[in-house]
Amino acid sequence: MYDTLAAVSMTDTWNPGQYEKFSNHRQRPFADLTSRVGATAPGIVVDLGCGPGSSTLALGQRWPHARIIGVDSSAEMLDQARRNDRLERVEWVRSDVESWDPAGVGAPIDVITTNALLQWVPSHRQLIPCWIRAVAPDGWFAMQVPGNFNAPSHTLLREVAARSPRAGELLPRLRAGEAVGEPSAYVALLAGLGCDVDAWETTYQHILDPAGDQVEPVLEWTKGTALLPVLELLRDESERADFVAAYGNALLDAYPRQSFGTVFAFRRLFAVAHKRPRQ
Ligand SMILES: C[S@@+](CC[C@H](N)C(=O)[O-])C[C@H]1O[C@@H](n2cnc3c(N)ncnc32)[C@H](O)[C@@H]1O
Repeated sequence: MYDTLAAVSMTDTWNPGQYEKFSNHRQRPFADLTSRVGATAPGIVVDLGCGPGSSTLALGQRWPHARIIGVDSSAEMLDQARRNDRLERVEWVRSDVESWDPAGVGAPIDVITTNALLQWVPSHRQLIPCWIRAVAPDGWFAMQVPGNFNAPSHTLLREVAARSPRAGELLPRLRAGEAVGEPSAYVALLAGLGCDVDAWETTYQHILDPAGDQVEPVLEWTKGTALLPVLELLRDESERADFVAAYGNALLDAYPRQSFGTVFAFRRLFAVAHKRPRQ
């Protein structure tokens, strides 16, 4: 079903410095997600799509005796994660989650988390059953995925791409959200896999750049995520600059600066699944 979406996957344009510019905002959903995970003393914890590792390291602090594994496909993100992990607390693994084999961990996993990853993985609804099978009885699977693909940050990106001379190449790369379901889809999937499910959605009202240091704060945010497929394709500097200028101007209209900062509403979907203990 998702084969035609394969073009949304990227090679390695992730830029940890850009991504971490908004780390305080980006970490809040992970904290909200994992606050609903009831594991007390897990032995093995895996964070899929761990990025620069801030969230993974937070898992290590919460469960100091657990073996913690962070998996990501980006060498740049993992390099940053290793730099952030001064105590070498985490096993960092470079792998695409589509080919990552949980059997390689060597034992059932007590907690799997995945935060802001699955929108980049068109096959994720086929992968979730494999991950739940790898979770130990009484273990947990916790996922958060953006649900903001109809927000101006994304619709404007597609509109500017549609007007570009390279629309034919750009538009197929901007389909990340199409594989993301509504919360009810994840409830049905996870409940059908023998889990008790807690799912919800939250629209965060991020107040970006209250100090007024950034000219285009929403553009700065999307440069770290949604805009990456465009930046990866448009390698010519002037072509890239034209695109970013048009998109940036559209964002300034959609997200005007106010006296206290720029309000960036961001909807996110959450599902926490508790695998029932063996009867
Ligand atoms: C938006 S970042 C989220 C990082 C981290 N989970 C967090 O909450 O800060 C998405 C991460 O997913 C990784 N990623 C994207 N597609 C992937 C894939 N198919 N397999 C593994 N990692 C992937 C990227 O390299 C990036 O580090």
